[in-house]
Amino acid sequence: MTQVVLTEVHGKVGLIRINRPEAMNALNNNVVDGIGAAIDTFEADENIGCIVITGNEKAFAAGADIGFMKDFDYMHAYKTDFITRNWERVKTARKPVIAAVAGFALGGGCEMAMMCDMIFAADTAKFGQPEIRLGTMPGAGGTQRLPRAVGKAKAMDMCLTARMMDAAEAEKSGLVARVIPADHLLEETLKAATTIASFSLPVIMMIKESVNRAYESSLNEGLLFERRVFHSAFALEDQKEGMAAFVEKRKAVFKNR
Ligand code: HXC
Repeated sequence: MTQVVLTEVHGKVGLIRINRPEAMNALNNNVVDGIGAAIDTFEADENIGCIVITGNEKAFAAGADIGFMKDFDYMHAYKTDFITRNWERVKTARKPVIAAVAGFALGGGCEMAMMCDMIFAADTAKFGQPEIRLGTMPGAGGTQRLPRAVGKAKAMDMCLTARMMDAAEAEKSGLVARVIPADHLLEETLKAATTIASFSLPVIMMIKESVNRAYESSLNEGLLFERRVFHSAFALEDQKEGMAAFVEKRKAVFKNR
């Protein structure tokens, strides 16, 4: 049986490849459980400082698998905790997760990308929330994360008309961090992930947690959270090392503690 999720380790970066090319990487339970298992492995590995999720040149993922869910009824979706049970493992990762998107990121694919901490897009990327065409709606965070990323007007437009947004518009609107020529997407994403992973792991995690607070709390609460975590960073050996290295004009050697 083909493995629908492949993993590789590139130095201190864990790479997860969604591998259902025959179905445009549509996300069924095998795929999403596989992504979750890969995240579990990379989170447990002290050597890994950053995780990248990617698809292939045609699709990051063209959505939740329509065939897989078409006969679900309400009780099945509710009792199995559809989406929450396994998809949200991406959201709960404590190490940074970058989505490297080429081709289609539609429906649940766009939502999976938005669960990541940032999206790097190939110039071929196309984002969309076309669920309305199927008689359903975004259900993996699309109605919540898309307006936070691109604003209400464009989020309404995309969710209600099902139109796609190309990479240039996605970057202009704030959905993606970088647009990269498709041939270099993985290389450039791994390079950025390697830079992140070269820093102190506890600091990486503190920064990720603090930036995420910006979405989940008022400004005052977020600032308070940031200040407390910032103060706690003075307890790190890596802070002593990082600042000493600067003063001594040498490269810091972080020990992740
Ligand atoms: C299951 C899918 C799929 C999907 C594509 N395929 N998307 N199978 N679920 N979401 C399959 C096709 O059926 C086809 O299989 C094969 O992948 C290739 O796709 P084609 O349509 O032949 O390719 P193309 O003409 O290039 O069109 C690409 C496409 C189109 C524009 C991406 O496939 C498309 O519109 N897909 C559906 C997009 C969508 O509606 N996504 C939202 C899903 S709902 P065969 O066997 O025929 O070769 C969703 C719910 C989210 O995500 C809420 C909670 C997660």
